[in-house]
Amino acid sequence: MEEESKLARPAPMEGHGGYNSRSAVQASTASPALPRLERAAVDVPLSPGKGAIVVADYGASQGRNSLMPMSIAVRRLRQRLETGRAISVVHTDLADNDFSALFELLNTDPESYLKQDQGAFASAIGRSFYEQILPDDSVTLGWCAWSVQWLSRTPVAIPDHVQVAYSKDDATRAAFAAQAADDWLVFLKHRRRELRPGGRLVILTMARTDDGDFGYGPLLTAMYDALRELVTEGVVQQEEAARMAIPTVGRTRAEFAAPFTSGEVSGLELEHIEIFEGDDAIWRDFLADGNATAFGARWAAFSRASVLPTLSRDLSQGASAERVRGFMDRMEAGMAARLAVGPDRTLMPLAIIVVAAAEEADPGPQTA
Ligand SMILES: C[S@@+](CC[C@H](N)C(=O)[O-])C[C@H]1O[C@@H](n2cnc3c(N)ncnc32)[C@H](O)[C@@H]1O
Repeated sequence: MEEESKLARPAPMEGHGGYNSRSAVQASTASPALPRLERAAVDVPLSPGKGAIVVADYGASQGRNSLMPMSIAVRRLRQRLETGRAISVVHTDLADNDFSALFELLNTDPESYLKQDQGAFASAIGRSFYEQILPDDSVTLGWCAWSVQWLSRTPVAIPDHVQVAYSKDDATRAAFAAQAADDWLVFLKHRRRELRPGGRLVILTMARTDDGDFGYGPLLTAMYDALRELVTEGVVQQEEAARMAIPTVGRTRAEFAAPFTSGEVSGLELEHIEIFEGDDAIWRDFLADGNATAFGARWAAFSRASVLPTLSRDLSQGASAERVRGFMDRMEAGMAARLAVGPDRTLMPLAIIVVAAAEEADPGPQTA
């Protein structure tokens, strides 16, 4: 039973700033969403008065990839605000996220909005975004990059892979699809409460192509094969490997749109949605330098920083820090070696979504 409860939730990204130093893929593929955020910062209605304007960064991790979007948001909002009006940037993530790395970065990096705007203030919330985490009607602008593909829980073990998109088991796929639909609805309902009238939320997340392709094929094959090798060698027990699952999903355009078309999230409009293929800079670099070892190492590092911490949670309870580190090292090395054998372009289907909270209803002419 206790092992089952470990299955139930994702781990945060690799700690001690590990995600900050190994998340260039996420940063570069999110850049097509930045003009949408900038547009939203220009257009979003601002509350009258002197109160702080709140910008929320949902799923911030250690903050490296939040620097650019938050700087853009703060700069654009500042152009519309009176001098001295505060902008409050709230970074949110799971409670066990490495928030120390986030604040260290915000306080020291020249690209930090705290270095660029004396009226900007940073704070953080360590609580799942599948709950309401900010007060009603408080958020003017939201940003959520590479985060809402993480489910609130792993609904069932995956019998034949670590990623459900590559499972051939229909019941497993159905359980993940149901969880993905529930989580998306819950996420939107909470954001609906938090957004001010007219407030905007810009989301960049994993998706599936219109043909239903989740992508990342070579990477996930390398991951699953590396894991099976560790089982064969006795480094990982079969029961441990059987529990290991990455609770992420790529949703289709129709799945993203469903709560809006069904009317389940009244007061929230789907202002924009596009599915696109993320630019694979690692592949482009390989084409330029022919360095297959670097190609394999960079994709393996991407996996180490983002999903290997979640798989390592399914090592038996009480696994020492040394065993966890050894598991991550062996998985990373096994993936890097496999990926170096036949470098190929990685398909990365992504979605950019902009949602807008309804503006306050016009009360109309008042009669005495
Ligand atoms: C891949 S990182 C993305 C970080 C950053 N936004 C970026 O663009 O690189 C995903 C983040 O989402 C967070 N996350 C996953 N599930 C979450 C949840 N239920 N509530 C809040 N944050 C969550 C993870 O802890 C992680 O820090």
